[in-house]
Amino acid sequence: MRSKEYDICVIGGLGHVGLPLGIVFASKGLRVCLQDINEESAEVLRQGRMPFVEYGAEPILKEVLSSGKLTISLEPESVSMAKYVIIAIGTPVDEYLNPKTRQFLEFIHDIRKYLDPTQIIIIRSSVFPHTCRQIVTELRDDQEWHLAYCPERIVQGYAVQELEKLPQIVAGVTEKAVEEASELFSKITSKIIHASMNEAELVKLFSNSWRYIQFAVANQFHMICEDFDMDYDRVRNIMVEGYERAKGLPSAGFAAGPCLLKDTMQLSAFYNNSFLLGHAAMMINEGLPNFIVKGLKNKYDLSQKKVGILGMAFKSNIDDIRDSLSFKLGKILRFHGAKVFYSDEFANDSAYIPKEELVKSSDIVIIGAPHSKYKELEIPGNVDLVDIWNIIKQ
Ligand SMILES: NC(=O)c1ccc[n+]([C@@H]2O[C@H](COP(=O)([O-])OP(=O)(O)OC[C@H]3O[C@@H](n4cnc5c(N)ncnc54)[C@H](O)[C@@H]3O)[C@@H](O)[C@H]2O)c1
Repeated sequence: MRSKEYDICVIGGLGHVGLPLGIVFASKGLRVCLQDINEESAEVLRQGRMPFVEYGAEPILKEVLSSGKLTISLEPESVSMAKYVIIAIGTPVDEYLNPKTRQFLEFIHDIRKYLDPTQIIIIRSSVFPHTCRQIVTELRDDQEWHLAYCPERIVQGYAVQELEKLPQIVAGVTEKAVEEASELFSKITSKIIHASMNEAELVKLFSNSWRYIQFAVANQFHMICEDFDMDYDRVRNIMVEGYERAKGLPSAGFAAGPCLLKDTMQLSAFYNNSFLLGHAAMMINEGLPNFIVKGLKNKYDLSQKKVGILGMAFKSNIDDIRDSLSFKLGKILRFHGAKVFYSDEFANDSAYIPKEELVKSSDIVIIGAPHSKYKELEIPGNVDLVDIWNIIKQ
């Protein structure tokens, strides 16, 4: 057995899931190594700064770096130096919306030389059902491997707060994997829920598909209201006031990002493309930018208009633009000849302009992500505002 310099090595440790998890474990006194291939993020982190918005993370990061509990490594060999190996790399879908399971298994094959059966291997990434069993097959050489699946269910940007509040689901292929993974996660949360591997994999996909479908219901209601010249936000407020059973109905808005749509697709692929509610939700949520543009086209010749999109992140108050529908909206508007400006409060890009300049330069302003800072924004009367979140009170 090689010496174990670290308690935990998080592979994909500089990503949105791996990084907050790693620093929270380090803040509990565990020796954590964040292993990754992203040199740029490693450089930013070594200076004690977070490479993306994660509320409450930076002070903890500074603390665990100076206490020596947190190490950043770009070397895959670090994986062999930890008792627990947590895998938190991305698990994208391909251009035909199928999960790239093979790619994940190839990654396991590549790091196999740094793993040994004394380690507890924990899958944190969202995976296609049955992937964990296939990983064990990939690893096996007549030895017993201890593999656990402990899915992440945080809301992006708020992991540091949520990791300690949310119960952790733990599944494993051996009793030892379940016991050890449960012991590890009980250092950050007081509630552990045990599940079989198949149950845990489905729980993760069901959770995200469920949220995605809820947003689709709200977006469809919004479209119905718009088509009848009514205000969905008002209808929703009347509906939920004092009526607990309707409280879960979200407001309308872009439902995107790297998880919800992807996991709905993974579930659909798993269910032979017969996850009809999931498919309907995709059409509605992905169709919302088209719906907005159609409404504008009925009013204007878009080729004569300047349109500003406020908020390019995939949701409010974070800087993550992955799979944001604001870009799809921009593309459709440009296709119809509009001149389009982008702005964001958190994400940086040299092509973005400040929000005030965007408002001044645009005939139409569309909220793409409802960042809190837009609440105070003054929109002149001659500018048409499209604000499905109703964040700007006019
Ligand atoms: N972002 C979320 O809120 C969220 C929530 C729940 C679950 N998930 C799931 O967690 C997983 C990770 O998502 P994410 O948002 O953190 O992605 P991310 O892209 O932010 O992070 C992935 C990290 O893995 C690193 N990486 C890629 N290949 C690597 C390799 N070969 N060796 C070492 N590091 C490597 C990347 O450099 C990156 O830092 C995905 O499966 C995702 O579906 C994400």
